[in-house]
Amino acid sequence: MEVKTSLLDNMIGVGDMVLLEPLSEDSFLENLRKRFDHNEIYTYIGSVVISINPYRSLPIYTPDKVEEYRNRNFYELSPHIYALADEAYRSLRDQDKDQCILITGESGAGKTEASKLVMSYVAAVCGKGQEVNKVKEQLLQSNPVLEAFGNAKTVRNDNSSRFGKYMDIEFDFKGDPLGGVISNYLLEKSRVVKQPRGERNFHVFYQLLSGASDDTLKKLKLDRDFSKYNYLSLDSAMVNGLDDAANFRTVRNAMQIVGFMEDEVQSVLQLVAAVLKLGNIEFKPESRCNGTDESRIKDKNDLKEMCELLGIEQSVLERAFSYRTVEAKMEKVSTTLNVAQAYYARDALAKNLYSRLFSWLVTRINESIKAQTKARHKVMGVLDIYGFEIFEDNSFEQFIINYCNEKLQQIFIELTLREEQEEYVREGIEWTNIEYFNNAIICDLIENNQNGILAMLDEECLRPGTVTDETFLDKLNTICAEHQHFESRLSKNSKFLTDHSLPHNCFRIQHYAGKVLYRVEGFVDKNNDLLYRDLSQAMYKANHSLIKQLFPEGNPAKVNLKRPPTAGFQFRASVGTLMKNLQSKNPNYIRCIKPNDKKASHIFTESLVRHQVRYLGLMENVRVRRAGYAFRQAYEPCLERYKMLCKNTWPHWRGLAREGVEVLMTDLQVPAEEFSYGRSKIFIRNPRTLFFLEERRRQCLQDLATLIQKIYRGWKCRSHFLLLKQSQIVVAAWYRRYAQQKKYQTIKNATTVVQSYTRGWQARKLLRELKYQKRCKEAVTTIAAYWHGTQVRREYRKFFRANAGKKIYDFTIQRIMQKYFLGLKRDMPSMSPIDKNWSTRPYRFLDGAHTELRRIFHLWRCKKYRDQFTEEKKAVYEEKLEASEIFKDKKALYPSSVSQPFKGDYLEISKNPKYQKLNSTVEEKVLLADVVNKINRANGKGTARIFLLTKKNVVLADQKTGQVKASVPLPDLTSVSVSTQTDGFFALKLKEGSASAVKGDFLLSSEHLIEIITKLHRMGATTADRTQLDVDISDEFLVQFKQEKVCVKFIQGAPKNGNSVSCKRKNNRLLEVSVPTTA
Ligand SMILES: Nc1ncnc2c1ncn2[C@@H]1O[C@H](COP(=O)(O)OP(=O)(O)OP(=O)(O)O)[C@@H](O)[C@H]1O
Ligand SMILES: [Mg+2]
Repeated sequence: MEVKTSLLDNMIGVGDMVLLEPLSEDSFLENLRKRFDHNEIYTYIGSVVISINPYRSLPIYTPDKVEEYRNRNFYELSPHIYALADEAYRSLRDQDKDQCILITGESGAGKTEASKLVMSYVAAVCGKGQEVNKVKEQLLQSNPVLEAFGNAKTVRNDNSSRFGKYMDIEFDFKGDPLGGVISNYLLEKSRVVKQPRGERNFHVFYQLLSGASDDTLKKLKLDRDFSKYNYLSLDSAMVNGLDDAANFRTVRNAMQIVGFMEDEVQSVLQLVAAVLKLGNIEFKPESRCNGTDESRIKDKNDLKEMCELLGIEQSVLERAFSYRTVEAKMEKVSTTLNVAQAYYARDALAKNLYSRLFSWLVTRINESIKAQTKARHKVMGVLDIYGFEIFEDNSFEQFIINYCNEKLQQIFIELTLREEQEEYVREGIEWTNIEYFNNAIICDLIENNQNGILAMLDEECLRPGTVTDETFLDKLNTICAEHQHFESRLSKNSKFLTDHSLPHNCFRIQHYAGKVLYRVEGFVDKNNDLLYRDLSQAMYKANHSLIKQLFPEGNPAKVNLKRPPTAGFQFRASVGTLMKNLQSKNPNYIRCIKPNDKKASHIFTESLVRHQVRYLGLMENVRVRRAGYAFRQAYEPCLERYKMLCKNTWPHWRGLAREGVEVLMTDLQVPAEEFSYGRSKIFIRNPRTLFFLEERRRQCLQDLATLIQKIYRGWKCRSHFLLLKQSQIVVAAWYRRYAQQKKYQTIKNATTVVQSYTRGWQARKLLRELKYQKRCKEAVTTIAAYWHGTQVRREYRKFFRANAGKKIYDFTIQRIMQKYFLGLKRDMPSMSPIDKNWSTRPYRFLDGAHTELRRIFHLWRCKKYRDQFTEEKKAVYEEKLEASEIFKDKKALYPSSVSQPFKGDYLEISKNPKYQKLNSTVEEKVLLADVVNKINRANGKGTARIFLLTKKNVVLADQKTGQVKASVPLPDLTSVSVSTQTDGFFALKLKEGSASAVKGDFLLSSEHLIEIITKLHRMGATTADRTQLDVDISDEFLVQFKQEKVCVKFIQGAPKNGNSVSCKRKNNRLLEVSVPTTA
């Protein structure tokens, strides 16, 4: 988006008319047209905004635009209504000045639209927040409600405001809206009952019938068809571009937002419906017996429905339409109404009902939007009043409306001039007076208390006797005849006598905006605004709270015989108050202009605009503004804008802005009479001077742009070059570093190789030298040794005998042996035969001797050990030795017997008295006594027997009795057979043919088998007459039992009955001994 910095930039035509050169009405209009053709509908006259109705929507009210104009100075951007709104809002917020925005212009010029734009702009830029937004929304939404009830289509404007509106928006110190107050001025109520051709009644009637649901209409007893209602004109019921149904929804929604309760909305709609119904009540004459006519209601259906809607008793209203009661002092006179009077009464009721409803709406809206806090607030007033209008047929309403516009013009003149004057005084500039048309004289014609038109109308209305509009006109003709702005055919001013454009029942006023012909008909009635008391009382009786409220004078308890103030009087008073109010505030003007009469876009009817420019006094406005100086600007922005025109002020001026401007003006050689220095502003007399400055500035800006371009391009190229250069340096540096690194690495590698070769060569050389030196040393030593040896030998030869060498050798050996034996003695092992320790051999040549010594020592040690034994112990060991010889590795029982000492006498036979007898039978010494099992040859079972061994015999005796069962002399024993296994079986085999052999061999079993056999064997060895006893160790041997030989076979079997050995006779020849396997 292009951002403009001054309204002077890119101007179409001239944005501010004050700068128009040359200034004439034609150039003024031409400028307006030019701008209008380029969609520039706003133009300034100083701080006044001229707005031309574009009659189409322009894209200049977007949120972006709001942002663009927000917080910008008035002249900064091209003219816009937002600039004025912003200026007003900011001076309200920042300078604490109450503001008013006066929007004037004729009907259809765009005042209402302008007021809405101002309000929406202020709403957009002021503070935000839930509460603030609600207030804003309520303020904005009051518009559609009031427009529905107070606006109507007229020939000039499809949405013409038929009431005056002044709205005060209240703000807190931060500029946030707090609420508002609306004042309404004189609704054109005659429209309710009658509309000129081509016009409509108020919008709300059409909106209700088009937009309300069937249900609502049924409740209101209404029909959607407009033609059913007398009060609705039919020829323009539909308006192009106006969607009544949609607007009805908008209005309902707005009422809800503003805060209307649902029952209030219903009441309002009921009243609107009642007005429509009222219009349909018609009267017919009925002759009375006294010859006069009396009115009767034609069809009572509408009356009935209306009464139902408002809760009024039908008869009461019916009576009020037929009679009129006049109360004077203590008297009450009731007269019947004729048809015309009845219609008058009906219409008066309808107008009153509607206008009072409208006033109530304003009051109700005010209740909702009023500020909630009593805190001090600032006010921005927006005045949107009906515009000046000239119809074909102008009546009392137009007179009032135009009077109001006269007053506004008056205040405009007063305030603009005052403002201008004040500024000059403030700035210390001399002021020259300027001629302009002051409409005070017209205001005086209308409002003067003594002979003003309104005063005379009031006088006429209050006068006793017959009062008609004609008598009123007569009065005017007499009193105002001399007034230069009053014209009437019958006035004393003869120049109008022949003026045929002036009908007899009319008078004409030369308003500031043109001449308006007013028809006096209805002036008196409208001013009186009479509503028969019977009607207001009937209304008061209604069972409808809103109606009751609207007609308080109908309360019989408060009968007031005084006449109410006339409409004219009331209006004059409220306009007076309004003017005072406006004068107390800082005014901002929007002057609306209507470009054509066709409500069409793009058409600029020059004559029409010229007329408006004239009566709005815009030319005078420009002249006044230019009377002294055409253009003024504060020093700071002025210096900022033009400082480039002077070397001293460009680019920076360090001193005061005013001094800077002075330097600037001197430098530019602007003639001194062309400008003046104010306190804070410079005043330029002629627009020419300003344009000269602007032109110079434009040229200068071009030069500056070229300069900036040149410098920028230079800078850009240089930056680019520097960047390239910088980059090249970086690249070169990196490349050089890389190349150097590579070169260095190569040199380093080469150096390392050369170095390593050199070092290797040096080291080898050194090594060679060292080796050589070493060899030399060794050679020298050897040579020296040999040489010394030779020398010594040569020297000592004479001292040595021939065997000296042997002696030395012997001596050496001796010393070695001595040392060896001493060492051996010191490290002698213990005397235990089982100690295997022996010192290590010191010299190899002693190997044999060392082993031999060890063997000898061991034998000696064993002998020593043996020498310690007693005889018994020796015998025991001998026996053990023998047992070993016999059984070792032959019988499995042997190992278990090694550790058992051979006790011999297990039964202690000599001591035990039990065996005394047996002992005595055995003569020799018992070498062994034990209990054995004698195996029964028949079944293999054992019988315990005492086994005794003496030097000569083996004796078997009964264990219990000690009776000797067998005694075998040792020589009869030939051999003894045992198994290889762990059993204790042994067979004593007897010499064949001996006496003992009669009964056969003995098969015995003993736990001390090893000892028994060993001892038997020893006995054989020691006895000289006996041959050595054979010990046969085999698992199968034959035993001689009497005649037969039985084979005893030992088998290994699973352990049964514990570990006992079992013996079974298998057959006659086989006795099987089962020996349990040992684990
Ligand atoms: N700024 C605008 N942009 C677009 N259309 C506009 C603008 N101003 C006015 N109009 C059009 O002109 C019509 C008449 O404007 P508006 O109702 O504001 O006139 P007015 O001056 O209030 O007249 P009256 O005195 O009869 O109330 C609007 O309905 C709208 O269509
Ligand atoms: Mg309007």
